[in-house]
Amino acid sequence: MTAPTSSSRRFSFLKAFIVVALAQSSVAAVVDPAVLDACPGYSATNVKTSRSGLTAQLVLRGLACNVFGNDTERLSLSVVYETRNRIHLKITDASQARYEVPESVFPRPQAQSVPSRSSNIQFNYTVSPFSFSIYRTSTREVLFSTSSHPIIFEPQYLRVKTRLPANANIYGLGEHTNPFRLPTDNTTLTLWSRDAYGIPVGTNLYGNHPVYFEHRTTGTHGVLLLNSNGMDVKLSSGEPGGPALEYNVIGGVLDFYFFAGSENDPTQVARQYAEVAGLPAEVPYWGFGFHQCRFGYKDFVDVASVISRYAAAGIPLETMWTDIDYMDRRRIFTLDPDYFPLPRMREIVQYLHNHDQKYIVMTDPAVPYLPDEGYTPYDHGKELDIWLKAANGSESLGVVWPGVTVFPDWFHPNIQQYWTDEFLSFYSPETGLDIDGVWIDMNEPANFCNLPCDNPFEQAIEQNMPPPRTTLPPDPNAPIFVNATSSSSSELKKREDLLNPPYAINNAAGPISSRTAFVRAYTLSSL
Ligand SMILES: *[C@@H]1O[C@H](CO)[C@@H](O)[C@H](O)[C@H]1NC(C)=O
Ligand SMILES: *[C@@H]1O[C@H](CO)[C@@H](O)[C@H](O)[C@H]1NC(C)=O
Ligand SMILES: *[C@@H]1O[C@H](CO)[C@@H](O)[C@H](O)[C@H]1NC(C)=O
Ligand SMILES: *[C@@H]1O[C@H](CO)[C@@H](O)[C@H](O)[C@H]1NC(C)=O
Ligand SMILES: *[C@@H]1O[C@H](CO)[C@@H](O)[C@H](O)[C@H]1NC(C)=O
Repeated sequence: MTAPTSSSRRFSFLKAFIVVALAQSSVAAVVDPAVLDACPGYSATNVKTSRSGLTAQLVLRGLACNVFGNDTERLSLSVVYETRNRIHLKITDASQARYEVPESVFPRPQAQSVPSRSSNIQFNYTVSPFSFSIYRTSTREVLFSTSSHPIIFEPQYLRVKTRLPANANIYGLGEHTNPFRLPTDNTTLTLWSRDAYGIPVGTNLYGNHPVYFEHRTTGTHGVLLLNSNGMDVKLSSGEPGGPALEYNVIGGVLDFYFFAGSENDPTQVARQYAEVAGLPAEVPYWGFGFHQCRFGYKDFVDVASVISRYAAAGIPLETMWTDIDYMDRRRIFTLDPDYFPLPRMREIVQYLHNHDQKYIVMTDPAVPYLPDEGYTPYDHGKELDIWLKAANGSESLGVVWPGVTVFPDWFHPNIQQYWTDEFLSFYSPETGLDIDGVWIDMNEPANFCNLPCDNPFEQAIEQNMPPPRTTLPPDPNAPIFVNATSSSSSELKKREDLLNPPYAINNAAGPISSRTAFVRAYTLSSL
């Protein structure tokens, strides 16, 4: 099963209300940049240079500034020229391990190194206060430089600030609602996954990509900060020191990849980035077709009638989708027996498949907390011990659409078995819903339970979860697809073959396209 889309949007007024309630409790940290710039920074000691890199110790250079916690006294720096177009620079706490994005989640490229002199970009540094720059070998043009601002490294706060040219062309640091070319004046991009109903402007959204590409007339380069902690990346132009890009990160280590890109081909930097981040998954061919998807279909008759109406209107529908509406009380891996009964849903999927069309449904990862109800998806997860736990070892509870929920721990060794088993059983082609793709939502993970979430049961009731249905169930034997004509592209082509009409006019030249301009097959199927 493949998913042509990985992110998703929820359209419901209920959800909007919840988001507004949460927004009121958020408070942004405000700190005078002068306070940060007064921090002592570090001095490089014990610098060891090799043919393809360098290591050093960084020692706090003066009185600690302790802005958001105590400054870390000693850091380790490593710089590796990994390819001719990539420098890997890492700064970590010298005395203890800190969180790093696990290899299992983000496999790093095979360790390799090239002689620094063969590289298209170079690392340069100043001993004290320690600062570094990355410049283009051929032109000596500086691409990244921390020289105007001290590096700050505290347990829960890391800051690195680089100068930018005036009116820099910066792209990336998504997901965001800013213009593609980012405004460089007073812009903050916050990276922290959240379920952002309605895609509010200027806020953090569902996914995070801490990478930017900078395009100049002299070339295009890229910078990845491989860190999955929450962060604000600030672009500013009006500060002392000139235009700048500033990372403010709340944990982890400074793990930078600098990509040389190219002096004349802006696409190269994306290729170099893909060597580290991996290539995108290939989308199925049918993923490019016309898809129909919305929240709020009442029942199976409603879904079937949408499919029929596309056919009646002669619009080729490639794929039909259904949101959480199909579930029994919003419980994943269930079908509502009155509104979306299994035999009728199988009939719909069969109809779609018979017409070379596809079907996708939503699966939310949150699993309703239903001990002692014989609800297999909960029981099976408990048996495999894959639920996220609270500090005292009890199951960590939240509130999502079905009410009180548990959350799968995607790092648990049994998780693949759990998820695969549930999919194979519910989406069984023989006995279940034979879907062609799945729509994952709420995987941030989204949780409606407001902090401190002392009583999720009470909150589920207050928030009306699961929301009751507002229509009566349909006649279980209601006829569907009664007047439907087929609507897949290939069927339409059969119906409307303009090139070879069933009645052939007496054209002396033969077929209508013969010896003249080609008669385009302007059937709907060619759209
Ligand atoms: C932070 O530094 C202060 C002053 O040196 C010290 O008293 C305090 O114990 C430190 N706090 C932590 C959490 O290390
Ligand atoms: C490298 O850094 C040193 C010390 O800051 C500086 O003098 C030198 O000009 C830099 N080299 C390049 C090519 O930027
Ligand atoms: C920067 O943007 C913030 C948020 O939009 C705003 O409150 C602030 O006044 C702006 N500051 C400047 C100097 O424009
Ligand atoms: C464990 O902690 C949760 C809150 O995180 C609390 O609701 C629950 O009552 C605690 N369970 C026990 C047995 O202490
Ligand atoms: C089928 O078409 C007929 C004639 O247009 C119409 O009266 C009838 O309501 C349609 N049935 C369904 C289930 O759409």
